Amino acid sequence: MSTVRSLRVEGERPYDIHAGPGLLDDGAALAAQVRGRHVLLVSDANVAPLHAGRVLEALAAQGAPRPRLATLPAGEAAKSLDGFAALLQELAAMGATRDACVFALGGGVVGDLAGFAAACWMRGIDLVQLPTTLLAMVDSSVGGKTAIDLPQGKNLVGAFHSPRAVFADTGTLRTLPDRELRAGLAEVAKYGAIIDAPFLDWLDANAAALLARDDDALADAIARSCAHKAAIVARDPREHGERALLNFGHTFAHAIEAEQGYAGNGALNHGEAVAVGMVLAARLSHALGLAPDTDADRLRRLLERLGLDTRLPAGLDPQALLARTRLDKKATADGLRFVLWDGAGRARIVAGVPDEAVLAVL
Ligand SMILES: NC(=O)c1ccc[n+]([C@@H]2O[C@H](COP(=O)([O-])OP(=O)(O)OC[C@H]3O[C@@H](n4cnc5c(N)ncnc54)[C@H](O)[C@@H]3O)[C@@H](O)[C@H]2O)c1
Repeated sequence: MSTVRSLRVEGERPYDIHAGPGLLDDGAALAAQVRGRHVLLVSDANVAPLHAGRVLEALAAQGAPRPRLATLPAGEAAKSLDGFAALLQELAAMGATRDACVFALGGGVVGDLAGFAAACWMRGIDLVQLPTTLLAMVDSSVGGKTAIDLPQGKNLVGAFHSPRAVFADTGTLRTLPDRELRAGLAEVAKYGAIIDAPFLDWLDANAAALLARDDDALADAIARSCAHKAAIVARDPREHGERALLNFGHTFAHAIEAEQGYAGNGALNHGEAVAVGMVLAARLSHALGLAPDTDADRLRRLLERLGLDTRLPAGLDPQALLARTRLDKKATADGLRFVLWDGAGRARIVAGVPDEAVLAVL
């Protein structure tokens, strides 16, 4: 039988992350997070019909306060000022007090939006993350960043607000579309690439089990990824240094996403763009004489085994992509800054990368 992996995230407000099957049915563990009389369960139109009932039943069986369910439209567009206002209206309608608790059941969109509402209501109430995408389990639900988008850009308004606990029920991943699972696997591989080369070998050996949604393989991958993210965030909670390593592959990914128009027809999703971006960053590292080409090749082969296409999508103009990388948050006055590596598992930030080197790998 599969077991649950648990780990503690240290920091100003320590919390536990649990990963494994059946966690959404563990009413005692969920109810233990509720301190007051008010519970808001936030989900989206895809996830609520599949998984919200289990959470409601599990809490009811413990005699916990009955949650109010807020179901958002699915997709990034919900992470808006309107979505934020709608959640504040829900909390107001409940008469939510300072000891109220928000459960965020869904992917990163639900987690970011519900998290931001929890951060703002009465200057901060309890938040429990119930991530249902692999990306949310290994990335967005850990580390305390919450945000909404504005028409001017993604994640422009937000707050740091750590959850009280994270329950990553691997059983929910059975209903996740294949593309979303693979996108999450790209972020999992990123932890191997930046900090843990043996994890890349482990992923290689377990690729088939992960793609088959084996609970044990998934729980191990989630726990190991979260341990890495938690350690980095504990050392650099506000992204003044090391936390930026988590952006390996992301400068190229953001450029590709922006050029394709976010999630337009046939466009790569974020994780797919990160897979391409990581291979480009590895190639750029080789072009600058930092790392062997064999490591870039090894990463490419692993990502392909995980079902990810690592080729730059056809039809993208290298000059346009270069211009986009200049707009990235990581560009400074002294030239382009990239998260590159000295080889698998050894990422670092490199400033002053010449345009010609970037163009050559594009
Ligand atoms: N806070 C952070 O540190 C952080 C880090 C990375 C990403 N993010 C944010 O996360 C968001 C992306 O998250 P995401 O990739 O999880 O996207 P998402 O929340 O949009 O979920 C992807 C799709 O899968 C559906 N879905 C979710 N769980 C499902 C399940 N178990 N079964 C069936 N369908 C399911 C959703 O309805 C949606 O259509 C972005 O807004 C990004 O900015 C935040």
